Amino acid sequence: MKEILLHAPATTANVGPGYDIFALTLQNPNDEIRLQLNNFNKVTIELSGEDSDIPVNVNDNTAGLAVLEFLKRKNISQGVHIQIIKKMPSGCGLGTTGASAAACVFGLNKLLELNLPKNELIDIARLGEVASGGSPHADNVAAALLGGFILVKSYNPVDVLKLDMPEFPIVLAVMRKSQRTTRGFITYDIGEEKLKEQIAHCSSVINAIHTKDIEEFGKAITTDYVAEPIRGAAIPNYFETKKAILRAGAYGCNISGGGSSVFAVCDEKKQDEIAEIMKKSFSSNPNFICLVKTKMSNEGIREILKNAPFQYTCSQD
Ligand code: HSE
Repeated sequence: MKEILLHAPATTANVGPGYDIFALTLQNPNDEIRLQLNNFNKVTIELSGEDSDIPVNVNDNTAGLAVLEFLKRKNISQGVHIQIIKKMPSGCGLGTTGASAAACVFGLNKLLELNLPKNELIDIARLGEVASGGSPHADNVAAALLGGFILVKSYNPVDVLKLDMPEFPIVLAVMRKSQRTTRGFITYDIGEEKLKEQIAHCSSVINAIHTKDIEEFGKAITTDYVAEPIRGAAIPNYFETKKAILRAGAYGCNISGGGSSVFAVCDEKKQDEIAEIMKKSFSSNPNFICLVKTKMSNEGIREILKNAPFQYTCSQD
């Protein structure tokens, strides 16, 4: 039986102003995905680890949908067993559903020795996202697959650029959102002034990456007029806490993906102080799970030889 075991990293999508077009990869937390080819001619899903309340019905699961799409597009009839080993919580804006879909597509491409181009893998994996947020956005799956900072240059056709960055420190307050997705509340109606500013901030993000200026990067990711006003309003104490985080010297702060996790970019020496501010503000929220001190990662999904010792990668420290 052919099989592969994969490390599937968390990702933070949007990165401030880049709604559906920016994402970056995190060193932790992560999930693991084991993919096995078999002769049963159907796709099955098994879930283990934390947070195992995500759907195992193939059509309702991002990884299941991505595998079905892969087999359909390539006209392959092949039994596939997907084992999702959950080490990070779902529904927190950490891209765990995208990571599962991307890992399955990466794994199938490898096991079937198809050598498909990256944009095709991303285009297949993003269709898995329909199972979680109802929309085939490519940001999380691309970041999980490729690592680094992701710019989705085009959706039609899908064309993604990976930009390497210095692996800067990040602090995350991991919090669940109270509803499955908040995309439906976003109106996209921001007016001319804010639209111009949003475009300017996106451009500044890319410029800061090219000049390797993390302070400038932080400043540029701190403003978003599309999703942050809606999602921030659903996170108790979010706007005051963001101000306190920036006052304490973080370079930037915003909401991770669809929320409700909050992330800050800062110097390594500031990580403890920023984590403490987040803890004070958010830990009484029933949706708060933990704090994570991590780094951005230039590495995406990778094959591992055995499961890392079981550990919920979201720690309370
Ligand atoms: N770009 C997506 C959104 C990411 O904002 O809904 C979801 O994690």
